Amino acid sequence: MEIILDTANLEEIKKYDEMLEIAGVTTNPSICKKEGVKDFFGHMKEIRLVIGSDKSFHVQVVAQDVDGMLEDAKVILEEVDDQVYIKVPTTPNGLKVMKALKERGVNVTATGIYTKMQAYLAINVGADYLAPYYNRMENQNIDPREAIFEIERLIDRHGSSTKILAASFKNVNQVTSALEHGAHAVTVATDILESALSLPSIQKAVDDFSTDWETLYGEGQSISTLNEIK
Ligand code: E4P
Repeated sequence: MEIILDTANLEEIKKYDEMLEIAGVTTNPSICKKEGVKDFFGHMKEIRLVIGSDKSFHVQVVAQDVDGMLEDAKVILEEVDDQVYIKVPTTPNGLKVMKALKERGVNVTATGIYTKMQAYLAINVGADYLAPYYNRMENQNIDPREAIFEIERLIDRHGSSTKILAASFKNVNQVTSALEHGAHAVTVATDILESALSLPSIQKAVDDFSTDWETLYGEGQSISTLNEIK
């Protein structure tokens, strides 16, 4: 199971890279806008430096025509590094681009997926990751759980190496549900990770243990200080 960070915020990436075994980082133009990224290549290189070369880094093309997307991909691979997963929207032009990139051995993430058919076409052209947009699918009355379940079954049945990287989450329940229905990876904004761990009951349980311990051994005492009070 891969947990990927859906952010371009360097501090948040550092924070969660220390806390979790993250598998990578995904960005898109809206995420860059949110962070006010001005020096695009400089910022992308900094993200790569923070996460290291062994993690997957997904950077999206911006052009919509085939030549433009291929040119965007070329520049990303030159300026950031040649292991970047080029995120390509799963449109007619996007599929042409994915096919061409895979023929050149480039890592590809098929993004903007709302339907199973888009996913199957992206598998057909050899995309490494598929990004079904969980929340946006729900907004369109498309069931992302059923789609993820069936896409995973098809991948398994055909022994395909394509992985489902579920994306576009707005709450914790959507993330757990994507994983439980067969997503190999999820890309999650850090506010969702924060809310996953901020249930008041979690901290209360920890506080109750501390209170009971201090009742036994005295205020401020921990296991590491027991020897000092012998
Ligand atoms: C990540 O790869 C996707 O681009 C992202 O999760 C989309 O999220 P959104 O629906 O919140 O824009």
